[in-house]
Amino acid sequence: MSIKNDEEQHTSFLEDDVTILAIESSCDETAAAVVKNGREVLSNVISSQIALHTVFGGVVPEIASRKHVEKINTCVRTALAEAKLKLSDIDAIAVTYGPGLVGALLVGVSEAKALSFATGKPLVGVHHIEGHICANYIEYKELEPPFMCLVASGGHSHLVLVKDYGEYEIIGQTRDDAAGEAFDKVARAIGLGYPGGPKIDAAAREGNPDAIIFPRAKTTEKSYDFSFSGLKSAVLNYLNQAEMKGEEVNKNDVAASFQKAVVDVLTEHSIEAAKEYGCNKIAIAGGVASNTSLRERLSSECKKAGIDFYCPSPVLCTDNAAMIGAAGYYEFKKGVRSGMELNAVPNLPLGNRERKYHGRSSN
Ligand code: KG4
Ligand code: ZN
Repeated sequence: MSIKNDEEQHTSFLEDDVTILAIESSCDETAAAVVKNGREVLSNVISSQIALHTVFGGVVPEIASRKHVEKINTCVRTALAEAKLKLSDIDAIAVTYGPGLVGALLVGVSEAKALSFATGKPLVGVHHIEGHICANYIEYKELEPPFMCLVASGGHSHLVLVKDYGEYEIIGQTRDDAAGEAFDKVARAIGLGYPGGPKIDAAAREGNPDAIIFPRAKTTEKSYDFSFSGLKSAVLNYLNQAEMKGEEVNKNDVAASFQKAVVDVLTEHSIEAAKEYGCNKIAIAGGVASNTSLRERLSSECKKAGIDFYCPSPVLCTDNAAMIGAAGYYEFKKGVRSGMELNAVPNLPLGNRERKYHGRSSN
Protein backbone atom coordinates (compact mmCIF):
# COMPACT_ATOMS: atom_id res chain seq x y z
CA MET A 1 0.00 0.00 0.00
CA SER A 2 1.39 3.39 -0.95
CA ILE A 3 1.13 6.41 1.30
CA LYS A 4 0.04 9.61 -0.40
CA ASN A 5 1.81 12.66 0.91
CA ASP A 6 -0.28 15.42 2.52
CA GLU A 7 -0.13 17.68 -0.53
CA GLU A 8 -1.40 14.95 -2.90
CA GLN A 9 -4.16 14.06 -0.46
CA HIS A 10 -5.14 17.70 -0.09
CA THR A 11 -5.28 18.38 -3.82
CA SER A 12 -7.45 15.37 -4.54
CA PHE A 13 -9.87 16.25 -1.73
CA LEU A 14 -10.23 19.80 -2.99
CA GLU A 15 -11.62 18.35 -6.23
CA ASP A 16 -13.89 15.65 -4.82
CA ASP A 17 -16.82 15.64 -2.46
CA VAL A 18 -16.29 13.38 0.53
CA THR A 19 -19.35 11.66 1.99
CA ILE A 20 -18.85 10.00 5.34
CA LEU A 21 -20.99 7.46 7.16
CA ALA A 22 -20.42 8.11 10.87
CA ILE A 23 -21.16 5.93 13.88
CA GLU A 24 -21.31 6.90 17.56
CA SER A 25 -21.98 4.57 20.51
CA SER A 26 -19.71 5.79 23.31
CA CYS A 27 -22.37 6.10 26.01
CA ASP A 28 -26.16 5.86 25.92
CA GLU A 29 -27.06 7.02 22.41
CA THR A 30 -26.78 4.71 19.42
CA ALA A 31 -26.26 7.03 16.46
CA ALA A 32 -25.44 7.00 12.76
CA ALA A 33 -25.23 9.89 10.31
CA VAL A 34 -24.20 10.75 6.79
CA VAL A 35 -22.19 13.96 6.42
CA LYS A 36 -20.90 15.55 3.22
CA ASN A 37 -17.66 17.53 3.22
CA GLY A 38 -17.65 17.79 7.01
CA ARG A 39 -20.39 20.38 7.25
CA GLU A 40 -23.50 19.22 5.38
CA VAL A 41 -25.63 16.75 7.33
CA LEU A 42 -27.56 14.46 5.00
CA SER A 43 -29.00 12.42 7.88
CA ASN A 44 -28.57 12.26 11.65
CA VAL A 45 -30.23 9.29 13.36
CA ILE A 46 -30.14 9.02 17.15
CA SER A 47 -31.64 6.17 19.15
CA SER A 48 -31.65 7.33 22.76
CA GLN A 49 -31.55 4.90 25.68
CA ILE A 50 -32.53 7.54 28.24
CA ALA A 51 -35.89 5.96 29.09
CA LEU A 52 -34.19 2.62 29.71
CA HIS A 53 -31.55 3.98 32.10
CA THR A 54 -33.97 6.32 33.92
CA VAL A 55 -35.31 3.31 35.83
CA PHE A 56 -31.80 2.83 37.33
CA GLY A 57 -31.05 6.53 37.91
CA GLY A 58 -28.03 6.51 35.57
CA VAL A 59 -26.36 4.72 32.68
CA VAL A 60 -25.86 0.98 33.30
CA PRO A 61 -22.87 0.08 31.05
CA GLU A 62 -23.87 -3.52 30.36
CA ILE A 63 -27.42 -2.55 29.41
CA ALA A 64 -26.06 0.26 27.21
CA SER A 65 -23.83 -2.19 25.29
CA ARG A 66 -26.67 -4.66 24.74
CA LYS A 67 -29.01 -1.95 23.50
CA HIS A 68 -26.33 -0.64 21.09
CA VAL A 69 -26.06 -4.15 19.62
CA GLU A 70 -29.84 -4.22 19.09
CA LYS A 71 -30.05 -0.78 17.50
CA ILE A 72 -26.86 -0.21 15.55
CA ASN A 73 -27.83 -1.92 12.27
CA THR A 74 -31.18 -0.14 12.12
CA CYS A 75 -29.53 3.21 12.82
CA VAL A 76 -26.99 2.71 10.02
CA ARG A 77 -29.68 1.56 7.57
CA THR A 78 -31.94 4.48 8.47
CA ALA A 79 -29.09 6.99 8.18
CA LEU A 80 -28.30 5.76 4.66
CA ALA A 81 -31.99 5.67 3.67
CA GLU A 82 -32.64 9.20 4.96
CA ALA A 83 -29.58 10.44 3.08
CA LYS A 84 -30.96 8.62 0.00
CA LEU A 85 -27.63 6.87 -0.45
CA LYS A 86 -26.32 3.33 -0.64
CA LEU A 87 -23.22 2.02 1.12
CA SER A 88 -21.45 2.10 -2.24
CA ASP A 89 -21.95 5.91 -2.40
CA ILE A 90 -20.01 6.40 0.84
CA ASP A 91 -16.34 7.45 0.72
CA ALA A 92 -15.31 6.54 4.26
CA ILE A 93 -16.64 5.22 7.56
CA ALA A 94 -15.91 7.23 10.70
CA VAL A 95 -16.45 5.89 14.19
CA THR A 96 -15.93 7.02 17.78
CA TYR A 97 -13.26 4.79 19.32
CA GLY A 98 -12.84 6.66 22.62
CA PRO A 99 -13.20 7.93 25.22
CA GLY A 100 -16.33 6.32 26.61
CA LEU A 101 -17.70 3.08 28.03
CA VAL A 102 -15.58 0.25 26.66
CA GLY A 103 -18.43 -2.16 25.92
CA ALA A 104 -20.49 0.59 24.31
CA LEU A 105 -17.59 1.82 22.17
CA LEU A 106 -16.82 -1.72 21.03
CA VAL A 107 -20.24 -2.04 19.39
CA GLY A 108 -19.71 0.99 17.16
CA VAL A 109 -16.09 0.11 16.43
CA SER A 110 -17.01 -3.48 15.47
CA GLU A 111 -19.86 -2.28 13.24
CA ALA A 112 -17.60 0.24 11.49
CA LYS A 113 -14.81 -2.30 11.03
CA ALA A 114 -17.25 -4.86 9.61
CA LEU A 115 -18.66 -2.29 7.16
CA SER A 116 -15.16 -1.17 6.17
CA PHE A 117 -13.98 -4.75 5.69
CA ALA A 118 -17.05 -5.75 3.65
CA THR A 119 -17.02 -2.69 1.38
CA GLY A 120 -13.31 -1.88 1.23
CA LYS A 121 -14.12 1.71 2.28
CA PRO A 122 -11.53 3.43 4.47
CA LEU A 123 -12.07 3.47 8.22
CA VAL A 124 -11.38 6.59 10.32
CA GLY A 125 -11.30 6.37 14.13
CA VAL A 126 -12.54 9.57 15.75
CA HIS A 127 -12.04 11.01 19.24
CA HIS A 128 -15.43 11.63 20.86
CA ILE A 129 -14.48 15.06 22.22
CA GLU A 130 -13.05 16.08 18.86
CA GLY A 131 -16.49 15.18 17.51
CA HIS A 132 -18.20 17.45 20.04
CA ILE A 133 -15.92 20.34 19.04
CA CYS A 134 -16.59 19.75 15.32
CA ALA A 135 -20.37 20.02 15.87
CA ASN A 136 -19.65 23.75 15.62
CA TYR A 137 -18.51 23.36 11.99
CA ILE A 138 -21.89 21.88 11.11
CA GLU A 139 -23.88 24.70 12.68
CA TYR A 140 -21.55 27.49 11.54
CA LYS A 141 -20.42 26.91 7.96
CA GLU A 142 -18.09 29.92 8.14
CA LEU A 143 -16.30 28.94 11.37
CA GLU A 144 -12.58 28.28 10.96
CA PRO A 145 -9.89 27.69 13.59
CA PRO A 146 -8.34 29.15 15.65
CA PHE A 147 -10.94 29.47 18.41
CA MET A 148 -11.39 28.68 22.08
CA CYS A 149 -13.80 25.83 22.80
CA LEU A 150 -15.45 25.01 26.10
CA VAL A 151 -16.23 21.29 26.09
CA ALA A 152 -18.56 20.31 28.91
CA SER A 153 -20.16 16.88 28.87
CA GLY A 154 -20.99 14.03 31.23
CA GLY A 155 -17.40 12.82 31.28
CA HIS A 156 -15.37 15.93 30.37
CA SER A 157 -14.89 19.59 31.17
CA HIS A 158 -12.13 20.98 29.01
CA LEU A 159 -11.07 24.36 27.74
CA VAL A 160 -9.49 23.61 24.41
CA LEU A 161 -7.59 25.95 22.15
CA VAL A 162 -8.46 24.75 18.65
CA LYS A 163 -5.34 25.83 16.77
CA ASP A 164 -6.24 24.24 13.46
CA TYR A 165 -8.37 21.36 12.17
CA GLY A 166 -7.46 18.41 14.38
CA GLU A 167 -4.91 20.41 16.39
CA TYR A 168 -5.82 20.95 19.98
CA GLU A 169 -4.19 22.33 23.08
CA ILE A 170 -5.93 21.62 26.36
CA ILE A 171 -5.49 24.69 28.51
CA GLY A 172 -7.81 23.71 31.35
CA GLN A 173 -9.66 20.63 32.54
CA THR A 174 -11.53 19.33 35.51
CA ARG A 175 -9.52 18.07 38.47
CA ASP A 176 -12.40 15.89 39.65
CA ASP A 177 -16.03 15.71 38.47
CA ALA A 178 -17.03 16.79 34.97
CA ALA A 179 -19.65 19.55 34.79
CA GLY A 180 -22.33 17.17 33.46
CA GLU A 181 -21.48 14.65 36.18
CA ALA A 182 -22.06 17.36 38.80
CA PHE A 183 -25.43 18.19 37.21
CA ASP A 184 -26.39 14.50 37.27
CA LYS A 185 -25.29 13.94 40.90
CA VAL A 186 -26.97 17.08 42.22
CA ALA A 187 -30.18 16.26 40.32
CA ARG A 188 -30.21 12.84 41.93
CA ALA A 189 -29.61 14.34 45.40
CA ILE A 190 -32.54 16.76 45.10
CA GLY A 191 -34.76 14.01 43.72
CA LEU A 192 -35.06 15.22 40.13
CA GLY A 193 -33.73 11.95 38.72
CA TYR A 194 -31.89 11.11 35.51
CA PRO A 195 -30.83 12.67 33.19
CA GLY A 196 -29.84 15.43 35.58
CA GLY A 197 -28.74 18.23 33.26
CA PRO A 198 -32.03 18.90 31.46
CA LYS A 199 -34.01 18.42 34.72
CA ILE A 200 -31.87 20.98 36.62
CA ASP A 201 -32.08 23.30 33.62
CA ALA A 202 -35.90 23.16 33.74
CA ALA A 203 -36.17 23.40 37.56
CA ALA A 204 -33.74 26.33 37.63
CA ARG A 205 -36.07 28.35 35.43
CA GLU A 206 -38.61 28.28 38.29
CA GLY A 207 -36.05 29.03 41.03
CA ASN A 208 -34.02 31.95 42.42
CA PRO A 209 -30.34 31.66 41.41
CA ASP A 210 -29.31 33.96 44.28
CA ALA A 211 -31.24 32.09 47.00
CA ILE A 212 -28.19 30.08 48.17
CA ILE A 213 -24.55 31.07 47.71
CA PHE A 214 -22.65 27.93 46.74
CA PRO A 215 -18.83 28.01 46.37
CA ARG A 216 -17.12 28.78 43.04
CA ALA A 217 -13.91 26.75 43.04
CA LYS A 218 -10.76 28.46 41.87
CA THR A 219 -8.02 25.82 41.63
CA THR A 220 -5.14 28.32 41.57
CA GLU A 221 -4.89 31.93 40.47
CA LYS A 222 -3.42 31.30 37.03
CA SER A 223 -5.13 28.03 36.18
CA TYR A 224 -8.03 27.37 33.84
CA ASP A 225 -8.71 24.02 35.49
CA PHE A 226 -12.12 23.31 36.94
CA SER A 227 -13.22 21.57 40.12
CA PHE A 228 -16.85 20.70 40.75
CA SER A 229 -16.69 18.15 43.57
CA GLY A 230 -16.54 20.88 46.27
CA LEU A 231 -19.66 22.47 44.84
CA LYS A 232 -21.39 19.09 44.72
CA SER A 233 -20.45 18.46 48.41
CA ALA A 234 -21.72 21.93 49.36
CA VAL A 235 -25.11 21.13 47.81
CA LEU A 236 -25.22 17.74 49.60
CA ASN A 237 -24.30 19.43 52.93
CA TYR A 238 -27.00 22.04 52.40
CA LEU A 239 -29.57 19.29 51.79
CA ASN A 240 -28.42 17.22 54.81
CA GLN A 241 -28.51 20.21 57.15
CA ALA A 242 -31.98 21.17 56.00
CA GLU A 243 -33.14 17.58 56.56
CA MET A 244 -31.63 17.46 60.07
CA LYS A 245 -33.35 20.72 60.96
CA GLY A 246 -36.59 19.42 59.46
CA GLU A 247 -36.68 22.34 57.02
CA GLU A 248 -38.41 22.15 53.67
CA VAL A 249 -36.00 22.54 50.72
CA ASN A 250 -37.00 24.57 47.69
CA LYS A 251 -35.69 22.29 44.93
CA ASN A 252 -36.00 24.95 42.27
CA ASP A 253 -33.89 27.40 44.31
CA VAL A 254 -31.22 24.71 44.91
CA ALA A 255 -31.20 23.86 41.19
CA ALA A 256 -30.98 27.52 40.14
CA SER A 257 -28.26 28.39 42.71
CA PHE A 258 -26.18 25.31 41.83
CA GLN A 259 -26.53 25.96 38.11
CA LYS A 260 -25.48 29.59 38.58
CA ALA A 261 -22.31 28.48 40.40
CA VAL A 262 -21.39 26.13 37.52
CA VAL A 263 -22.26 28.65 34.82
CA ASP A 264 -20.26 31.41 36.57
CA VAL A 265 -17.08 29.33 36.57
CA LEU A 266 -17.47 27.96 33.04
CA THR A 267 -18.18 31.45 31.67
CA GLU A 268 -15.42 33.21 33.59
CA HIS A 269 -12.75 30.69 32.58
CA SER A 270 -13.81 30.71 28.93
CA ILE A 271 -13.72 34.50 28.63
CA GLU A 272 -10.41 34.84 30.50
CA ALA A 273 -8.80 32.10 28.43
CA ALA A 274 -9.99 33.60 25.14
CA LYS A 275 -8.55 36.97 26.15
CA GLU A 276 -5.22 35.54 27.31
CA TYR A 277 -4.77 33.48 24.13
CA GLY A 278 -5.89 36.34 21.88
CA CYS A 279 -8.95 34.46 20.54
CA ASN A 280 -11.89 36.49 19.33
CA LYS A 281 -14.08 33.39 18.99
CA ILE A 282 -15.53 31.14 21.69
CA ALA A 283 -17.41 27.95 20.80
CA ILE A 284 -19.15 25.54 23.15
CA ALA A 285 -19.63 21.79 22.87
CA GLY A 286 -20.90 18.74 24.77
CA GLY A 287 -24.18 17.96 26.53
CA VAL A 288 -23.84 20.77 29.10
CA ALA A 289 -23.51 23.24 26.20
CA SER A 290 -27.24 22.77 25.68
CA ASN A 291 -27.86 24.39 29.09
CA THR A 292 -30.08 27.45 28.64
CA SER A 293 -28.41 29.57 31.30
CA LEU A 294 -24.85 28.79 30.10
CA ARG A 295 -25.79 29.74 26.53
CA GLU A 296 -27.38 33.01 27.67
CA ARG A 297 -24.54 34.00 30.01
CA LEU A 298 -21.76 33.21 27.56
CA SER A 299 -23.62 34.95 24.78
CA SER A 300 -23.97 38.17 26.79
CA GLU A 301 -20.43 38.06 28.25
CA CYS A 302 -18.97 37.45 24.78
CA LYS A 303 -20.93 40.41 23.43
CA LYS A 304 -19.53 42.64 26.21
CA ALA A 305 -15.98 41.43 25.49
CA GLY A 306 -16.30 41.79 21.69
CA ILE A 307 -15.89 38.02 21.19
CA ASP A 308 -17.93 36.05 18.60
CA PHE A 309 -19.93 33.29 20.25
CA TYR A 310 -20.74 29.92 18.62
CA CYS A 311 -23.27 27.57 20.19
CA PRO A 312 -24.55 24.59 18.19
CA SER A 313 -28.25 23.60 18.41
CA PRO A 314 -28.90 21.40 21.48
CA VAL A 315 -29.29 18.27 19.31
CA LEU A 316 -25.72 18.78 18.06
CA CYS A 317 -24.42 19.40 21.62
CA THR A 318 -25.54 16.09 23.10
CA ASP A 319 -24.17 12.85 21.65
CA ASN A 320 -24.83 12.35 17.94
CA ALA A 321 -23.05 10.86 14.94
CA ALA A 322 -23.16 13.94 12.68
CA MET A 323 -20.41 15.51 14.80
CA ILE A 324 -18.33 12.34 14.32
CA GLY A 325 -18.85 12.69 10.56
CA ALA A 326 -17.58 16.27 10.73
CA ALA A 327 -14.50 15.36 12.77
CA GLY A 328 -13.95 12.24 10.62
CA TYR A 329 -13.90 14.38 7.47
CA TYR A 330 -11.04 16.56 8.73
CA GLU A 331 -9.11 13.49 9.90
CA PHE A 332 -9.74 11.83 6.53
CA LYS A 333 -8.51 14.95 4.72
CA LYS A 334 -5.31 14.75 6.73
CA GLY A 335 -4.79 11.20 5.54
CA VAL A 336 -5.65 9.49 8.82
CA ARG A 337 -6.78 5.91 8.19
CA SER A 338 -7.43 3.29 10.85
CA GLY A 339 -6.64 -0.30 10.18
CA MET A 340 -8.54 -3.38 11.30
CA GLU A 341 -6.54 -3.17 14.52
CA LEU A 342 -8.64 -0.16 15.60
CA ASN A 343 -9.88 -0.83 19.11
CA ALA A 344 -12.03 0.90 21.70
CA VAL A 345 -9.89 3.12 23.96
CA PRO A 346 -12.03 4.09 26.97
CA ASN A 347 -9.61 6.76 28.29
CA LEU A 348 -8.33 8.07 24.97
CA PRO A 349 -6.57 11.42 25.48
CA LEU A 350 -7.38 14.42 23.26
CA GLY A 351 -4.53 15.73 21.15
CA ASN A 352 -1.87 14.43 18.87
CA ARG A 353 -0.92 11.59 21.19
CA GLU A 354 -3.98 9.66 20.02
CA ARG A 355 -2.55 9.29 16.51
CA LYS A 356 -0.47 6.38 17.71
CA TYR A 357 -3.65 4.28 17.72
CA HIS A 358 -4.19 4.89 14.01
CA GLY A 359 -2.65 3.28 11.02
CA ARG A 360 -1.78 5.62 8.13
CA SER A 361 -2.31 4.29 4.65
CA SER A 362 -3.85 5.29 1.36
CA ASN A 363 -6.81 2.88 1.22
O1 KG4 B 1 -22.11 15.07 25.58
P1 KG4 B 1 -23.10 14.22 26.27
O2 KG4 B 1 -24.43 13.98 25.59
O3 KG4 B 1 -22.50 12.83 26.62
C1 KG4 B 1 -21.18 12.68 27.07
O4 KG4 B 1 -20.27 12.68 26.20
O5 KG4 B 1 -21.02 12.65 28.30
O6 KG4 B 1 -23.33 14.89 27.69
C2 KG4 B 1 -24.21 14.35 28.63
C3 KG4 B 1 -24.19 15.26 29.84
C4 KG4 B 1 -25.01 14.69 30.98
O7 KG4 B 1 -24.26 14.80 32.17
C5 KG4 B 1 -26.23 15.59 31.00
O8 KG4 B 1 -26.81 15.71 32.29
C6 KG4 B 1 -25.65 16.91 30.52
O9 KG4 B 1 -24.76 16.53 29.51
N1 KG4 B 1 -26.69 17.78 29.98
C7 KG4 B 1 -26.98 18.99 30.48
C8 KG4 B 1 -28.08 19.48 29.74
N2 KG4 B 1 -28.40 18.55 28.80
C9 KG4 B 1 -27.52 17.52 28.94
N3 KG4 B 1 -26.43 19.68 31.50
C10 KG4 B 1 -26.96 20.88 31.79
N4 KG4 B 1 -28.03 21.40 31.14
C11 KG4 B 1 -28.61 20.75 30.11
N5 KG4 B 1 -29.66 21.27 29.47
ZN1 ZN C 1 -20.47 13.23 24.43
